[in-house]
Amino acid sequence: MKIAVIGSNMVDLISYIDKMPAPGETLEAPDFSIGCGGKGANQAVAAATLGADVLMLTKVGADMFGDNTIQNFKKYKVDTTFVEKVSHMSSGVAPIFVDKSSQNSILIIKGANKCLLPADIDKAADSLKECSLFVLQLEINLETVYYAIQFANTYQIPVLLNPAPATKDLNIAMACKCDFFVPNETELAILTGMPVKTEAEIQQAANVLLEQGLKNVIVTMGQRGAMWMTKEQTECIPAYTVNAVDTTGAGDAFIGCFADHYVKTKDVMESIRKASAFSALSVMKRGTQISYPTRQEMEEFWGRHQ
Ligand code: RIB
Ligand code: NA
Repeated sequence: MKIAVIGSNMVDLISYIDKMPAPGETLEAPDFSIGCGGKGANQAVAAATLGADVLMLTKVGADMFGDNTIQNFKKYKVDTTFVEKVSHMSSGVAPIFVDKSSQNSILIIKGANKCLLPADIDKAADSLKECSLFVLQLEINLETVYYAIQFANTYQIPVLLNPAPATKDLNIAMACKCDFFVPNETELAILTGMPVKTEAEIQQAANVLLEQGLKNVIVTMGQRGAMWMTKEQTECIPAYTVNAVDTTGAGDAFIGCFADHYVKTKDVMESIRKASAFSALSVMKRGTQISYPTRQEMEEFWGRHQ
């Protein structure tokens, strides 16, 4: 029951700010932290934290960030057999700004992540064939994402696609070959060009995707919870009310936990509930991966909320 995460890794450079400086302005910000991030890596680490067997396919640069990222995967027992170093590129980095209301703005510089190619999927084919779920995002080249989807289809491996960061270039026909499509509301708006302010609007936008042939659309909506839609049904799963200090990587926490629970149980509803709990716990702490609860913290929280 191995989960393959084929995606990005970044080093998150998080500035906690009162206000963004205007062009030409210099402002002091109260705090800073550095940690491992990147949507793919975050999802891999979240699943591994919960006990999943995770195989990571990603590329790091030949710099200290790259070494640190590999060490970090090892710490979480993520299989790094197919984590490669690229000699002529920097590692991916993400300068992130978190404001007083715990909202974040993220810049990504992909670096070595751009070098993850379809040929790398072929190289790892023997191991990938044995996996029970592929988890994909959009911080690597689209052609690699599409190749991974086709590979998974060939071997009848379910695919979860997190269309983040969203791009209008995403080929919806390719997304339709995935079993789970998990955007947040902002990504849903970009993909459909529709408003997503209210839950009714979110439902309408997701409906457009379902009409195009997507199977399971799970929209993560932060404090408003999650919405799971198929052609037949819509389920709203409320969020856990917590004191949010930093929401960076909360969506990735959701996906990693969902993946872990789904491969173990095939129970979509309970996987969403657990994912909501896990991501809620992550927003109570600063940082990305470092803010993810341990398996024990998660079990305690889950126990208290049943
Ligand atoms: O989803 C959060 C992640 O987005 C951060 O860890 C950052 O690296 C960017 O990839
Ligand atoms: Na956090």
